[in-house]
Amino acid sequence: MNILVTGANGQLGNEMRIVARGSADRYFFTDVCDASQESVSMLYKLAGDDVCTETSRLDITDLAAIRAFVAKNQIQAIINCAAYTNVDAAEENQDLAMLLNAKAPENLAVAIKEANGLLVHISTDYVFGKEPYNIPCTEEQQGTPTGVYGYTKLCGEQNIKAVGCQHVIIRTAWLYSEFGKNFCKTMLNLTASKPQLKVVFDQAGTPTYAYDLAKAIAVILNDYTLTLNSKLSTLNFSKNGVYHFSNEGVCSWYDFTKMIQEYAGQKVCDVQPCHSSEFPSPVTRPSYSVLDKTKIKQTFSVAIPYWTDSLRLCISNLK
Ligand SMILES: NC(=O)c1ccc[n+]([C@@H]2O[C@H](COP(=O)([O-])OP(=O)(O)OC[C@H]3O[C@@H](n4cnc5c(N)ncnc54)[C@H](OP(=O)(O)O)[C@@H]3O)[C@@H](O)[C@H]2O)c1
Repeated sequence: MNILVTGANGQLGNEMRIVARGSADRYFFTDVCDASQESVSMLYKLAGDDVCTETSRLDITDLAAIRAFVAKNQIQAIINCAAYTNVDAAEENQDLAMLLNAKAPENLAVAIKEANGLLVHISTDYVFGKEPYNIPCTEEQQGTPTGVYGYTKLCGEQNIKAVGCQHVIIRTAWLYSEFGKNFCKTMLNLTASKPQLKVVFDQAGTPTYAYDLAKAIAVILNDYTLTLNSKLSTLNFSKNGVYHFSNEGVCSWYDFTKMIQEYAGQKVCDVQPCHSSEFPSPVTRPSYSVLDKTKIKQTFSVAIPYWTDSLRLCISNLK
């Protein structure tokens, strides 16, 4: 298969580069800018010399450019890792968040439908949260976003479904990796440099190591390839739909920080739990957004590691 990865220089996009290494499929990694030198060095460190560090330019807000790219390269699947991901800033930049998180996925859906291919799109646990749940959220549960970011991501899901292309929409949560900026890397730095730190304990969710998500996407693409190669190839992909993926388990941001500190071997910083009200923010985050992953496990047989096992691996890669 010829596979287009958008937003390839972000956290998930870079992990896709690692997972794609040695694949029989042909991957095209695209973004609006070049990869940072830091990311390229990390890619070589984690994946060796044969990892693809090149980036072609493709702006997912430009439908004509997507169509041309898909046609020229005979793309059969798109993995959309691009998004507007700054949750706080989205409150001030609603138009841009809507363009990137709702309109751009629609563009990708239109282009891949014309090519009769598959769109794998990434959404978020922040489509939930306004209703105070206390059991893991299922795919069928109605989205109740608390802010602009979650709302625009929910619109993106709806737009893809409305276009009617073959699609797998994966809602994930609390993403971290060796690449870019994320909570894990921030807390590694803060716990190493500050004598005391307060972290909220009244928001529960599950961290997701982007490498684990990238591997799950590869499993889904493999499943899709088997469908293409079978006699079912003229039919729609029967596994179209929304799926939830995070690591296993549940924790608060406070628990997450305590484990980051432990695995990094940092003992000096005194990490204390606090309420969200102590950190005024432009947007109220969900107090509970744990995702139920039964559907993705049953449908695609993906293996999902426990969150602390993956965290330990990521931190050892970062050290
Ligand atoms: N991060 C999380 O905690 C989290 C949680 C749940 C779900 N998700 C979802 O998971 C997916 C991957 O997130 P991530 O953390 O890997 O994102 P990320 O690190 O922010 O990467 C997104 C990439 O998309 C690029 N991009 C921005 N505008 C673009 C455009 N017009 N065309 C093409 N590329 C563009 C960005 O470039 P610039 O950096 O230059 O803008 C960046 O390289 C997203 O859909 C996100 O909503 C993330």
